[in-house]
Amino acid sequence: MTTTPRAQGATVWLTGLPSAGKTTIARVLAGRLRSEGHRVEVLDGDEIRRFLSAGLGFSREDRHTNVQRIGLVAEVLARNGVLAVVPVIAPYADSREAVRKRHDASGTPYFEVHVATPVEVCSERDVKGLYARQAAGRLKGLTGVDDPYEAPVDPALVLQTQNQTPQESADAVHAVLAARGLA
Ligand SMILES: Nc1ncnc2c1ncn2[C@@H]1O[C@H](COP(=O)(O)OP(=O)(O)OP(=O)(O)O)[C@@H](O)[C@H]1O
Ligand SMILES: [Mg+2]
Repeated sequence: MTTTPRAQGATVWLTGLPSAGKTTIARVLAGRLRSEGHRVEVLDGDEIRRFLSAGLGFSREDRHTNVQRIGLVAEVLARNGVLAVVPVIAPYADSREAVRKRHDASGTPYFEVHVATPVEVCSERDVKGLYARQAAGRLKGLTGVDDPYEAPVDPALVLQTQNQTPQESADAVHAVLAARGLA
């Protein structure tokens, strides 16, 4: 009888401003990891907000709660051998720290990747039109513009996506996992 080695999971949290490139990188990375035989789950902020965090808004408290819920799901998945890729803004350092501690408590690898695209580039990309709506006075509380974004102090990786293709960005994240024997 052959036994396959137990898969080691991990959480990769892609934090950054709206339109920074989190979702794009997560999808490219997930595709590569799947093609290599890993079990992968992408927990995207927009989808999560439609179910797990339905009813939550964008106050400081609700944003924190949203991140804790996603962090719980990611840790459960990662602890059970899945590579959980999380392209979620997560603007507050203390929220992200709580997620890290949750992973540390179970000895589950957790990596923070700062998708550090400058706000000027993000607002030009403006994939969802949020920056335009904020500028027109039709939206308040846009992260990085009139709502806080606390950049990670010690991330595993910082990505300057304005100088990279999505593939290059995703490959850089993959290299972080590979260096720890996780990919
Ligand atoms: N190196 C890169 N990595 C990722 N995205 C890039 C890169 N270069 C250009 N882009 C473009 O930037 C845009 C990023 O949009 P995306 O939806 O991924 O952002 P997001 O961070 O998920 O935003 P939101 O927080 O609003 O969901 C896409 O149009 C993508 O093609
Ligand atoms: Mg996104």
